[in-house]
Amino acid sequence: MKLLLSSVALFALFHVIAGHAGHNHGHVRKTVRIPTKQLNDGNHIPTLGLGTFGFGDIPKIRQAINWAVEAGYRHIDTATFYRNEEEIGKGISDVLKKGLVRREDLFITTKLWDDKHAKDQVVPALRESLAKLGLQYVDLYLIHFPEATNADGSPADIDYLETWQGMEETKKLGLAKSIGVSNFNIEQIDRIKAHSKVVPAVNQIEVHPSKTQEKTIKDCFERNIAVVAFSPFGVFVSRRKGPSQEDPKIKNIAQKYGKTVSQVLLRYLLDRDLIPIPKSTNENRIKENINVFDFHLTPEEISSISSYNTNTSLWWS
Ligand SMILES: *[C@@H]1O[C@H](CO)[C@@H](O)[C@H](O)[C@H]1NC(C)=O
Repeated sequence: MKLLLSSVALFALFHVIAGHAGHNHGHVRKTVRIPTKQLNDGNHIPTLGLGTFGFGDIPKIRQAINWAVEAGYRHIDTATFYRNEEEIGKGISDVLKKGLVRREDLFITTKLWDDKHAKDQVVPALRESLAKLGLQYVDLYLIHFPEATNADGSPADIDYLETWQGMEETKKLGLAKSIGVSNFNIEQIDRIKAHSKVVPAVNQIEVHPSKTQEKTIKDCFERNIAVVAFSPFGVFVSRRKGPSQEDPKIKNIAQKYGKTVSQVLLRYLLDRDLIPIPKSTNENRIKENINVFDFHLTPEEISSISSYNTNTSLWWS
């Protein structure tokens, strides 16, 4: 009892000294530990990451990275197209300087934009991203889309097999630890497999209850390719078509586990062996989205959520 009391006293004293008195309402703030998954090249990816796409949120992203890493996020997903690599670089520099993590604890993904698909453009494009991020290497570099464009956005006739050769070069040079693709279908992935040395480690695609992607995911898993799920909340947090946060079936599941609808939707993807990358720049939602590693859905609950599938993309028709 005496020991307990003195621990409590020490804890309280620490919080007074640290300026935290009155916060936390009696519970210690906990950092969530995110499990990792092994990729086909032996590297490990944290099974949930912070998404960062949103031009309006670029000024908020540096602070968001700080909150996210404090909460336990280690995996951050960006792209040249998002125009936020410099702000993300500042956030990464903050958390490294604070000593919250070492570089090797982080898993940073960026993506090659469509106008740099010529083989000789790939390494320089990644070097430019690395300079903005303030990093020596990224953990994962993805071809953002299979289609190439010219600098003015008009279609360019460049085969992604050529682009992939540039991607292989980034890995050989140690500028990217792993390489993969995004928004590729299985025929395109099989063409890469048939003509290249390195098999993509990841395919990043849109997955949520209105676009469940069973076939593509099964095909990727059969080839030992991990699937990262973007737009994980789908129409459930969008004001567009589809069922909403108020949907009773999903609300019931959330109530059963004492979780929010958003947390159930993330768990739905985790329980399908996917790697969701929920985007937020809001401190509370950043914490909410990572607090999903203490429950599991039943196979029936997973099927029930999948039954919303309409093959509807949030982004494309
Ligand atoms: C979604 O697409 C798959 C594969 O193309 C198809 O088998 C399925 O019937 C579609 N589902 C709906 C609801 O349109």
